[in-house]
Amino acid sequence: MKTVLIATDKPFAKVAVDGIREIVENAGFELKLLEKYTTHSELVEAAKSAHALIIRSDNVDREVIEAGSNLEIIVRAGAGYDNIDLAAATEKNIVAMNTPGQNSNAVAELVFGMMVYVSRSGFNGTSGTELRGKSLGIHAYGNVGKYVAKIGKGFGMDIYAFDPFVKAEEMEKDGVIPVNNVDDLYSKSQFISLHIPATAQTKNSIGFEILSKMPKGATLVNTARKEVIDEEALLKMFKERPDFKYISDIAPGCSEEIKTNYENRCFFTPKKMGAQTSEANINAGLAAAKQIVNFFKTGDKTYQVNK
Ligand code: 3PG
Repeated sequence: MKTVLIATDKPFAKVAVDGIREIVENAGFELKLLEKYTTHSELVEAAKSAHALIIRSDNVDREVIEAGSNLEIIVRAGAGYDNIDLAAATEKNIVAMNTPGQNSNAVAELVFGMMVYVSRSGFNGTSGTELRGKSLGIHAYGNVGKYVAKIGKGFGMDIYAFDPFVKAEEMEKDGVIPVNNVDDLYSKSQFISLHIPATAQTKNSIGFEILSKMPKGATLVNTARKEVIDEEALLKMFKERPDFKYISDIAPGCSEEIKTNYENRCFFTPKKMGAQTSEANINAGLAAAKQIVNFFKTGDKTYQVNK
């Protein structure tokens, strides 16, 4: 019998786990659960008996993949798969997938939750500012970026977007103004919402040159990956631009320095919270379970990311 392991350091809501269990068991497979584990070796150990893995931001490195000698498929219940060693998976003939779009609305809602919170000075009793009439630049117009645009329009913001892989007409039909390059995007936008994946090309790519192009009242919102930010540039921005604010879904490496010196100009979630809603857990978790069942039953490899 095939064994499907849910390995989540940050667990899904119970209702999502129950739904995954139903799909997996109805298909005739066994479900195992490893939640809130504290050491990487627990994940390595648990992977040994699994034929399929459902993970979130869990670190599926070469050690896990080599220990999982029965592994046939790994599904990242979410969008970014920078936490999977794809080369190691491919070498072992293991299919890696993600579940694109399933948690995007949750991430987009968090963008605005944090933007309002910081614009209102953390609700500390002083007067803050509104989002209406401000410019919002969406850096990468994928699944999350599209939801951000929709919600931003509801707030009455002027929305710009840059994405070399998306046609200008697609943005225009959403009421978004396409721009041709990042410089242009950052120059026009009081708020920037980042949605680029963490790849060899994008890591550390958001540097001082580009950030300093932002107009007065600049706020950078990062619900993508902390690794895409050049943290030295970030500190320089805080130092040289008293108007600059940084909001991030999970703290940067230099968070203590920022919090100590620029307390009112930042907000960091204690854990990655973008996709942490019941709805997103259900959408992404159940999609992952269905993808695994389809793969085992029919060989369906839709959403494979290592090909
Ligand atoms: C994603 O890539 O889907 C998001 O960053 C969510 O990550 P999480 O599942 O670890 O919350």
